[in-house]
Amino acid sequence: MKKDGVKLFVDGKRLDGRELDELRPIKMEVGVLKRADGSAYLEWGENKIIAACYGPREVHPRHMEEADKAIVRVRYNMAPFSVPDRKRPGPDRRSHEISKVTKEALESVVLTHLYPKTVVDVFIEVLQANAGTRCAGITAAALAMADAGIPMRDLISSCAAGKIEGKVAVDMMGAEDNFGDADLPLAISPQKKEVTLLQMDGNFTRKEFEEAFNMAMKGCLDVYEIQKQALLKKYEV
Ligand code: CDP
Repeated sequence: MKKDGVKLFVDGKRLDGRELDELRPIKMEVGVLKRADGSAYLEWGENKIIAACYGPREVHPRHMEEADKAIVRVRYNMAPFSVPDRKRPGPDRRSHEISKVTKEALESVVLTHLYPKTVVDVFIEVLQANAGTRCAGITAAALAMADAGIPMRDLISSCAAGKIEGKVAVDMMGAEDNFGDADLPLAISPQKKEVTLLQMDGNFTRKEFEEAFNMAMKGCLDVYEIQKQALLKKYEV
């Protein structure tokens, strides 16, 4: 989107008062839905997201089943009331893309060979959106899967970095995403720091890319700590 003179820094701080390397406030809770096998609720800045996980369970339609492993299916959906301009209900190009990259980001850590001919279904419902919903959705979905007891090699943690007014910054919020210069969503399996999602929108120099990548990586590791706390909290007496 064109900038049209929008200022993204006030007195050297970002519009919401953050430093360049500071995440928005994040809250996570698991086990929020009774009828799902696993679930999570996540607030990340003004994003509000519910994730639900079902399975491993029988695959319908049957032709999708794999003889030697479980499949992972992901549906990312935005509620019509989640954005300032009403979002037309139902799937669109953007939600298909985000569902696909989310599935790929999560699938890599699932021990799919343990449950042949089954499916792990993951639903991500965005109730309120303010930039970075794919990272927030991936983070919530990984928690829901862990809450469901899906055998996984690791969690998946996600965070983006971007460029605003030529400066590299972590975790852009709405205005920064709309009027910023670039966006770099990242998801990792935090123990080995393996990248499971990396996308890029806009332009970075090589140096900026490295800076943004390192910032997003640090953001993912911070998110991982909050995920672990949310999972531990469920088992506290
Ligand atoms: O949400 P994320 O940054 O992962 O994906 P995006 O496609 O870059 O969208 C950025 C933001 O645009 C979303 O988080 C929403 O806040 C907003 N958006 C919107 O207002 N209306 C839509 N139909 C889609 C996105």
